[in-house]
Amino acid sequence: MNHDIYSTEGLYKIVEKTELSETISQHVIYAPLIAAKAKAGHFVILRSREGGERIPVTLVDWNPERGTVTLIIQAIGKSTTEMNALKQGDSFLDVAGPLGTPVEIKNWGTVLGVGGGVGIAELYPIARAYKEAGNKIVSILGARNKGLLILEKEMAELGEVIVTTDDGSAGRKGLVTDAMNDLYAAGRGPDAIFTIGPIPMMKFVALASLPHKTPTFASLNPVMLDGTGMCGGCRVEIGGKPKFACVDGPMFDAHQTNFDALLKRTAAYREQEKESLERYARDHQCRIGLH
Ligand SMILES: Cc1cc2nc3c(=O)[nH]c(=O)nc-3n(C[C@H](O)[C@H](O)[C@H](O)COP(=O)(O)OP(=O)(O)OC[C@H]3O[C@@H](n4cnc5c(N)ncnc54)[C@H](O)[C@@H]3O)c2cc1C
Ligand code: FES
Repeated sequence: MNHDIYSTEGLYKIVEKTELSETISQHVIYAPLIAAKAKAGHFVILRSREGGERIPVTLVDWNPERGTVTLIIQAIGKSTTEMNALKQGDSFLDVAGPLGTPVEIKNWGTVLGVGGGVGIAELYPIARAYKEAGNKIVSILGARNKGLLILEKEMAELGEVIVTTDDGSAGRKGLVTDAMNDLYAAGRGPDAIFTIGPIPMMKFVALASLPHKTPTFASLNPVMLDGTGMCGGCRVEIGGKPKFACVDGPMFDAHQTNFDALLKRTAAYREQEKESLERYARDHQCRIGLH
């Protein structure tokens, strides 16, 4: 495709949109400057409309020739619900990036990826980069139920996949850490672990790998505002020291991470977030009612 990476024509337009589950959508967006610089572990901060919230989302894939980047967004609150309501042909207002420090790609040997929920989307580009670097990839993908499981086929193209669901509707019933403990018990402990998903899941993955001294890395998801190290909103505690997840991370040594402090900080605005989503749902229904 012939395109001028400095032209603003069609910028941030959704050129393809796919529903991956009831709440998870994949957006392929025209953003050539970002596509030209993206690396595994990078994320963007985007807004869907004027006055909208700035939302950090991982770069799942990128195509410098087409000038596109792929994002996978789970609608969990007001802003992500608004974003997933956009259709193919609509545009995001702005997309800033690539942001963050990309993961260091090297040959560990066997790399275990442990992904939970939409974290599987964030794990995929990292597993792909490690595969390209010659590592053997094993993945444990966890979801509450079969309907919320994403990218199983794509992850299977990279290596062995073990699926766990809370209700047993796909794969084995149980937690990702059950499958991880079985690997260790079978003498199949990996050389490094990358985990992305809910904070409690990442904490227990780190606790499970600690006795085996397996280097373990977790992608942290504190609330982010500017994404450039200016506001301090994304402060996390690593080895007892403060770090900014947006510039120093988002990937950190999981054995050094204070997950309890992170959980507390991310819960700080829960009431306001709930109210905002409820108001959005009410307004949305009202508008539907007027038509
Ligand atoms: C580096 C990074 C990469 C991420 N990648 C993805 C991804 O690829 N796909 C995806 O679906 N989600 C991703 N997230 C999470 C996503 O940013 C939040 O789900 C989103 O911000 C929620 O906003 P909301 O208004 O819809 O929900 P709200 O109801 O406002 O919040 C719900 C929860 O989302 C989190 N959150 C809210 N605002 C922010 C914010 N500004 N920054 C970070 N977290 C916030 C909080 O934990 C909050 O409790 C990522 C987060 C980070 C930090
Ligand atoms: S988001 Fe502001 S310092 Fe990281």
